[in-house]
Amino acid sequence: MTEQIVILDFGSQYTQVIARRVRECNVYSTILRYDTPAREISALQPKGLILSGGPSSVYAEDAPLPDPAIFKLGVPTLGICYGVQLFAHFLGGRVEKGQKREYGKGTLTVTNAACALFARLPKRLQVWNSHGDKLTKLPRNFKPVAVTENSEYAAIEHRSKGFFGLQFHPEVVHTPRGREVISNFVHGVCGCGKDWTMRNYIEQAVEEIRAQVGRERVILGLSGGVDSSVAAALLHKAIGDQLTCIFVNNGVLRAREAEVVREVFGRHFKVKLRYENATKLFLSRLKGVTDPERKRKIIGRTFIEVFQAATKRAGKAKFLAQGTLYPDVIESVPIAGNPAALIKSHHNVGGLPKKMKFALVEPLKCLFKDEVRLLGEELGLPKEIVWRQPFPGPGLAVRILGEVTPRRCEILRNADRIVVEEMKASGLYYKIWQSFAVLLPVRSVGVMGDERTYDYTIAVRAVESQDGMTADWVKLPYDLLEKLASRIINEVKGVNRCVFDITSKPPGTIEWE
Ligand code: XMP
Repeated sequence: MTEQIVILDFGSQYTQVIARRVRECNVYSTILRYDTPAREISALQPKGLILSGGPSSVYAEDAPLPDPAIFKLGVPTLGICYGVQLFAHFLGGRVEKGQKREYGKGTLTVTNAACALFARLPKRLQVWNSHGDKLTKLPRNFKPVAVTENSEYAAIEHRSKGFFGLQFHPEVVHTPRGREVISNFVHGVCGCGKDWTMRNYIEQAVEEIRAQVGRERVILGLSGGVDSSVAAALLHKAIGDQLTCIFVNNGVLRAREAEVVREVFGRHFKVKLRYENATKLFLSRLKGVTDPERKRKIIGRTFIEVFQAATKRAGKAKFLAQGTLYPDVIESVPIAGNPAALIKSHHNVGGLPKKMKFALVEPLKCLFKDEVRLLGEELGLPKEIVWRQPFPGPGLAVRILGEVTPRRCEILRNADRIVVEEMKASGLYYKIWQSFAVLLPVRSVGVMGDERTYDYTIAVRAVESQDGMTADWVKLPYDLLEKLASRIINEVKGVNRCVFDITSKPPGTIEWE
């Protein structure tokens, strides 16, 4: 069994970050609900347990509490923030409402350098706090090992049991050396090796896919995005020609998108690829439609129709493969104040109809996005695919305001190609979340040579974001902006004005629609 750390989720917005940090230490981690029975946890034979933070107070009526038997599993346990309160609550300590809410940056002073969590770390550390309640009496047999300005129990330990409590968050970037604290826990305390790498994962996944699929055939909808591309490459490695990929051209793709997919998967990897060019069908259905929601619905429905017909033509297959990721399958904890619970419903694409009777193969469903990218590199996919920016399913249709026409698609495709080229040339493309062009179907007057023009406007959007939920516009250098505007207006027929969007999200969205 893969060595692993189990993280119990008490509703912290950082639970997934903890899981990722553990995996960055090359140790596998699993997130489970806070009330998972101890025997289920024990069945996984975890090398260690982490109790996440959470927005509650242990004394609140509806406080999320774990199975008390988790403290008797004989497994090293790290409680973060709310996790410390749990130690106090179950093991004889006391928590009270703090006078001062400790929030933000603080300085931690390690008072017991022998504590394994702080091995090879300096005595003073910058840490990030976010808690209101305060430990006022240590749980039995615990000792303080570090203090902050506000708390004499900022870090505590029960050495013989391997229990540790941290009032601060080691998982966030504002605790710069937090990764080392987590590494000390998983390697130093729990004794985990460093076996969780994408290279090892490929072997394991290939075996699992072969065992699941046997001699049956598998269909995969390839969009050219990171997830479906990596899933395709992995499945192809495992089952070769038993896999058929279907790529649908919905008429609202960017420049070169279809070519890249055909080049990489068809010619290079020699994947069995069905290219469905449904451009005409999509664009005919979008004719005259201006409402953004209707555009999305038409594209969604038409996609299912085209895809379904293509699967029939591809011949009988038992399995449908999907690039589902770990964050989509983690059951979020429905606790008030847990923003992670809201994130899931965002842009839910809706999936395929139930009557399509396939069994699912989801070879990425225990991976985070950053791991999928590493896996893609390991499988030999080009940077252009592995590190590409997110692109919405409804494609250019959400970037052409108003009606989507073939001419407008052509204009936007040309403008967007220039944005991508210049962003890549400046070295910024792979550093930011998204950068793209938007077509505004309003016309304004301009002059070109001796002629008066009356053409469309292109808006350039460049944003920085962690997850697409919030975003900041990127302060692109003036000379880059100048180059973008000049190239777009000179090279793209039908455009005579270029503007730069300086709206953050909120209040704006990333896409214009
Ligand atoms: P907004 O525009 O809501 O976008 O700020 C947030 C992120 O989601 C992407 N996006 C979509 N992705 N299907 C998708 O797969 C969609 O319909 C869709 N709409 C927006 C957007 O590009 C941004 O990264």
